[in-house]
Amino acid sequence: MKRFGLIGYPLGHSFSKKYFTHKFEKEQITDCEYELYPLDSIDELPELVKSVKGLKGLNVTIPYKEQVLKFLDEVDPKAESIGAVNCIKIQGKKLIGFNTDYIGFKESLIKFVGPNPMPDKALILGTGGASKAVKAALEDLSIEHQFISRNPAEGQLNYEHLHSEPSLFKTTRLIINTTPLGMAPATESLPDLPYHLLTEQHYLYDLVYNPLETAFMQKGIDAKCWVKNGLEMLYGQAEAAWKIWN
Ligand SMILES: NC(=O)c1ccc[n+]([C@@H]2O[C@H](COP(=O)([O-])OP(=O)(O)OC[C@H]3O[C@@H](n4cnc5c(N)ncnc54)[C@H](OP(=O)(O)O)[C@@H]3O)[C@@H](O)[C@H]2O)c1
Repeated sequence: MKRFGLIGYPLGHSFSKKYFTHKFEKEQITDCEYELYPLDSIDELPELVKSVKGLKGLNVTIPYKEQVLKFLDEVDPKAESIGAVNCIKIQGKKLIGFNTDYIGFKESLIKFVGPNPMPDKALILGTGGASKAVKAALEDLSIEHQFISRNPAEGQLNYEHLHSEPSLFKTTRLIINTTPLGMAPATESLPDLPYHLLTEQHYLYDLVYNPLETAFMQKGIDAKCWVKNGLEMLYGQAEAAWKIWN
């Protein structure tokens, strides 16, 4: 039996377990199992890898995406530059780290824009873990990006700036929400943007996928923008992990 699983803490309801269990059933993959491995501390990882027979791959979630780096024998250069690993391939005794959020986001952004010209500039709302994967994908696609933060670091801007200097918002056609605003149960919340400036040329990408249509996306729909939720990215990161493991 080949084993795969998720490490993190705590592990309540897990998208990955549901996704892979369903995939194995649907595709009649009978020699694979996906399990949850809640770890009190990331220091328990080497023991887990030793003790679980047939372990081939792991997904990594909060709070270990960064802490896991020191246990890896190799890290994919992209994951290294992002500074976070959410997928580990186990090859014999060797642990190799990857970031598949980056792959999932990049592929879904390309599909989202489709045959239209890719916007040349983007606003990234939020500066957490997910925003780093988004930034790496935008760099690959040569899309200039500006971080928007409640507490901007050097080179970043705050939300107030978008209201007081509307030209940036008007001319930046791709806006990516990497904050948790809008996520259930607080579905009414949304980033503080000058939404009245949206045009049909804007693309609004929300990493949130629950609900499927967020308050941020609704503002885009009202202004006839292109909108997308985070579900395809979520599936994309899972499928990218599967490809890496196999
Ligand atoms: N679709 C997918 O596959 C996928 C993958 C990864 C994550 N996600 C989703 O992306 C979201 C962010 O994930 P994450 O791990 O990056 O989360 P995070 O680190 O907790 O937060 C991201 C950033 O959002 C900003 N933020 C947080 N609370 C806010 C608030 N109340 N108002 C305004 N800004 C706020 C903060 O940036 P500042 O302090 O700079 O403002 C924070 O660093 C989550 O909803 C997650 O479910 C989706």
